[in-house]
Amino acid sequence: MDNVSNQSEIAVIDFGSQYTQLIARKLRDLGVFSEIYPYTRYQEIVNADNVKGVILSGGPSSVFDEGAPVVEMALLECGKPILGICYGMQLMCKMLGGSIAGSDKREYGPATIELIDKSSFMNNTPDSQNVWMSHGDRVDSLPAGFKAIARSGSIEHAAAVDVDRGFYCVQFHPEVVHSDHGMQMLENFTRDICGITEKWSPAEFVDEAISEIRQRVGDRHVLCGVSGGVDSTVVATILDKAIGEQLHCVFVDNGVLRFDEAQNVETDLNSFLSRPIVSVDAKAEFFASLAGISDPEKKRKAIGGTFIDIFKKTANSLGELHFLAQGTLYPDRIESVSINGPSHVIKSHHNVGGLPAELGFELIEPLQDLFKDEVRKVGKSLGIPDNLLMRHPFPGPGLAVRILGEVTPSKVEMLQAADHIYIQELLDSGEYSNIWQAGAILLPVQTVGVMGDQRTYESVVALRAVTSQDGMTADWSRIPAEVLAKVSNKIINEVKGVNRVVYDISSKPPSTIEWE
Ligand code: XMP
Repeated sequence: MDNVSNQSEIAVIDFGSQYTQLIARKLRDLGVFSEIYPYTRYQEIVNADNVKGVILSGGPSSVFDEGAPVVEMALLECGKPILGICYGMQLMCKMLGGSIAGSDKREYGPATIELIDKSSFMNNTPDSQNVWMSHGDRVDSLPAGFKAIARSGSIEHAAAVDVDRGFYCVQFHPEVVHSDHGMQMLENFTRDICGITEKWSPAEFVDEAISEIRQRVGDRHVLCGVSGGVDSTVVATILDKAIGEQLHCVFVDNGVLRFDEAQNVETDLNSFLSRPIVSVDAKAEFFASLAGISDPEKKRKAIGGTFIDIFKKTANSLGELHFLAQGTLYPDRIESVSINGPSHVIKSHHNVGGLPAELGFELIEPLQDLFKDEVRKVGKSLGIPDNLLMRHPFPGPGLAVRILGEVTPSKVEMLQAADHIYIQELLDSGEYSNIWQAGAILLPVQTVGVMGDQRTYESVVALRAVTSQDGMTADWSRIPAEVLAKVSNKIINEVKGVNRVVYDISSKPPSTIEWE
């Protein structure tokens, strides 16, 4: 479903930079709609009237590399303003007749630039400012018609423009938070240079999504899997507003959910959906499929396979359903379109595509152009309560990937109890909202302890909490020691079978958020 095709946008061409998604994100923060295109699809941008400007991203390649990503002159000649960042600058300057100097030395980190000429691109930014550099090559001589507008201690052409032809380029990364005035530059580019003044608004997004869904669905019926997570809750709510009782929501209890989760999801969703959700208790089937399995990928496959079987069976019992609604988000899609140098590591294990095509449904994916925090804004404008919208992400395979080793009902019960204490304490202490994601993990080791006069030999629970923008990178949360002390104390006292609690202080990369 393409619900934004007429909206003015900035096209971000992906040359594989780790920051490509960040550029799109920052533009969205300015209220400017943006889309990421693999560099091979530049022709679509040339032809699209709604694309008002183009940003060429950075990338890991050197313009001297064989097979380095390129675009054709047709893009540079399309008449839309173009901003080249880092590799984007070097490629643009090379194509237009400038020269690039290769270097084995990378300049990485903060730098100070001095403005040396006026340009609308740098409006409202100071003459001397901090930026973030990350490059090896640099532009040695500018193409004819360009003038340098900023230099740094180590490069002459930190920023350059050819205003008449609409070319702007920077060697540094305005999208990175350490470029103090980068947001102002992006705003100058999108608003003053590309002329985009419309703002993205969640309420308008909802209105448009609702009318598109109504038009597409007509009097047919839609199936929607709900998990209690933010994305599926927002999808179900938009659909409910659009088509009411033609929506059938199915919730599958796979036995590896959080404490009381099944009950809570049912109560929460039924409080605002027109038709009660269909709740399926499939705990026994899932435990049977997990029996004897310790390997994380096999666990994921077992859960994924069982889920599809149960979902299919339930769907068949609900009568004639034509569409399947899914909470696919924009980052899920760019992971799958970005080619020849994806801008970040692909999470191969994630069931991003949702249910397989052979189920035979047409897909409805109303959130497919949104980032996670935009989904939360949409949810807020729909009146969904904060306790649902601000929930931490939770993996599809649930506690099964937080129980290292074989999954059994008794281990699940132990972990649910520990996790519940942890999450409750984070909520009570106010720490929950500072954290992207938190959860407890049950380790497959026993350690010695002492309780009363008794020596114990019991399990270890690890606590994980991370801060993150999008789950792609993450840092461990600096939870106050007194909160951790309380959680540890409560878990060891109240959860039978646990005599030790540890806190995970690893960042991603090189670790991941989940332990499996
Ligand atoms: P990792 O562990 O890769 O996790 O750093 C990043 C984010 O993805 C979630 N995750 C999953 N979500 N199915 C899912 O639906 C999965 O198999 C899965 N594995 C990890 C994880 O909880 C975090 O939010």
